[in-house]
This record gives sequence, C-alpha cells and structure tokens, in this order.
Amino acid sequence: MKKIIVAIDGYSSCGKSTIAKQLAKYAGYRYIDTGAMYRAVALFAISHQLSATGDQQSAIISLLPNIHIDFALQPDGSQHVLLNGNDVEKQIRTLEVGNMASQVAVIPEVRHFLVAQQQQMGKDGGIVMDGRDIGTVVFPHAELKLFLTASPEVRAERRYKELIEKGEHPVMADVLADVNDRDYRDTHRDESPLRQAEDAVVVDNSTMTREEQMTHIIGIFDSVKEVASQR
Ligand code: DC
Repeated sequence: MKKIIVAIDGYSSCGKSTIAKQLAKYAGYRYIDTGAMYRAVALFAISHQLSATGDQQSAIISLLPNIHIDFALQPDGSQHVLLNGNDVEKQIRTLEVGNMASQVAVIPEVRHFLVAQQQQMGKDGGIVMDGRDIGTVVFPHAELKLFLTASPEVRAERRYKELIEKGEHPVMADVLADVNDRDYRDTHRDESPLRQAEDAVVVDNSTMTREEQMTHIIGIFDSVKEVASQR
C-alpha cells in the first residue's frame, strides 16, 4: 500500500499532537511535531538572551546556521527534540518558550529554514506531521489534510491541566489570555498564517472524547489511503 502524507493543522492546544502520535502509531508512520521545532529555535534565542523584536530578529536569523534540530525516538515510542545534540524536550514545553515560539514563527527566514527541513523529512511519505502550515505550505499536495479545532475555553482548560501535571502553577485567566493571544498571532501573521486548506477535513473536537475522535480520524485515514493506493 502507498505510504501517504498526513498533514494536521489547527490552533494551539486542540490536541493535534495526541491525535498525530496515535495516528502515526496506528499507521506505522513517522510523527513530526513541527511546533517543537519552532520551540527549539525559541529556546535557542532565549538562551542567547535574544528577543524576537526589532534588530534582535536579525541576530536570530544570523544564528540559524548554528541551530541543529533532530528528533530522538524513545523506547516508549515517543520522540524527544534535540537541540544541537541536547535533549530539550522538557525545556521547550513551558509557557515562556511557547510564547517565544509564536514570536519567532513570524520571522520569514525562520519559517523557510524549518519548512525546508520538514519537506525533506516527509519527501518519501509515510509521515504524520502536525503544525499550522503543513497542509497549506509544507505539503500542499498531502493526500490527507486534517484541520483540528476546539473552542478557546476548552483548549485553555486542557492546557491548564497539562501545566498543572507538569508541576507548574498557572492562573486560568492567564492561560486563556495566552491561548487567545497565540491564536491571534498564529492567524494574523503575514508569513504563512494558520488557515484551513480548502481541501482539509475539519474536525471540531470540543465535545468529542479522544476515542471518538480517533475512531473518526482512523476511518478517514483508511479510506484516503485506500484511494491513494489505487491511483
Ligand atoms: O504547536 P505548538 O504550540 O507547539 O507551536 C508553538 C508555536 O509555533 C505556535 O505559536 C505556532 C508556531 N508554529 C508555527 O507557526 N508553524 C508550525 N508549523 C508549528 C508551530
């Protein structure tokens, strides 16, 4: 059977990575979390005391050749992000790095740098990639494009729980404000804003359980793969 490309886009904290991971496991495909790549660039900038504004942007751009991002497969099947060979999986998951990631993600040179690597990773198919521009920019010809969405309140609540589980002490109002700010930046930037590809299948999971959503998505995946294999 043909190995297809699955592009998953959507707002922050709408469960993209959980679905993408489960689908990759089901399909036996590689999973790539492109948000983690923007987060790794953000962490690199923070560790060099750079902000993403004004002339500091050009400093970030000039440092891009020094940024090497890899994914290391873990024994439990999950993937950890390596920044210049160091496992930074934990450090990149904070609110601070998430915020900085959405700021470095507006810099066209950062996007071109990461998009080229993402296209290389998926060139032979057999990949599930999630992000904001996968179905529109990275793989506009992906056989299956999913656009996930859920209300900002539902997403803030999920994010809040995740942060608590990680031992952070978030304030709910801040988490909701952060979700709204990030949505605004992700959808209003000039370079590759988050938008639904015309041929994407929209899945609003506000009121779906993970299992319901997964069953729904596996059904779509199986039929798209079948059709792709007959071509
Ligand atoms: O999915 P995430 O929260 O880990 O993403 C972090 C930030 O990176 C988010 O604000 C949007 C940005 N991003 C992007 O612009 N394009 C992608 N393909 C993935 C993430």
